[in-house]
Amino acid sequence: MKNVFDFAKAKIERRPISMVTCYDSTSAALVARSNVDCVLVGDSVAMTMHGEKDTLRATTDLLALHTAAVRRGGPDLFIVADMPFLAHRGSLDKTMDAVRRLMQAGANAVKIEGVDGSESTLRHIVESGVPVMGHLGLTPQSLHALGGFRVQGKEEAAAAHISEQALTLQSLGVFALVLECVPSQLATAITKSLTIPTIGIGAGHETDGQVLVFQDLLGLNPDFKPRFVRKFSDGAGFVVDALNRYTSETQARSFPTEKESFEI
Ligand code: KIV
Repeated sequence: MKNVFDFAKAKIERRPISMVTCYDSTSAALVARSNVDCVLVGDSVAMTMHGEKDTLRATTDLLALHTAAVRRGGPDLFIVADMPFLAHRGSLDKTMDAVRRLMQAGANAVKIEGVDGSESTLRHIVESGVPVMGHLGLTPQSLHALGGFRVQGKEEAAAAHISEQALTLQSLGVFALVLECVPSQLATAITKSLTIPTIGIGAGHETDGQVLVFQDLLGLNPDFKPRFVRKFSDGAGFVVDALNRYTSETQARSFPTEKESFEI
């Protein structure tokens, strides 16, 4: 993706969008060598890279730091940066300061969870020239209000509410919408009702794209096995095997060889 218009184009051409989270420059350089369409510097960085149990401790400082690292590793990547917990729920000045910092760190767009009560803020950000990606369904920043990490929109009324929120976000000018952990039928209906693309995670295969956490799809966390994650590689096995070969070759003094050493 070069710009926001490519998202709309992908939907029109029915070309599924692949998005992956990315938090550091090494990973960004790898993503840049792949066919992945775009990256998300998600607030999941707090969990994945900093070992927190949820995303609530992610801050604008943290997201800006990681966004800048991703931009250095992937100068041409389309980067969406997450607005962290409550960053858009204080004053408009504070909200715009957070948006400015993420964009100046190298983001092409910001992602914001939810919409209820944030309509005028979202409109202001969009009208300020900053592309906004929406995020509905399981919105992890509302973990405590939702009673945990649970599938959302299973009941008729809840599904209707999410569908309405999606239309509201579209009318506010968001350019794409993440749907997280909602029944496939609901994700499909929302996808059909919108002109902007939907990007699903735990939302079935009929959305206009998919997003996964980099470490999850690479299988780097072998103990994390949510239903919606497919491990496309045995990353943990690959890394542990390399570390073990390094250790045994160090112990056997077969590493380093003369070719890997310097002489006077
Ligand atoms: O922070 C994140 O990783 C996300 C994705 C799950 C969409 O918001």
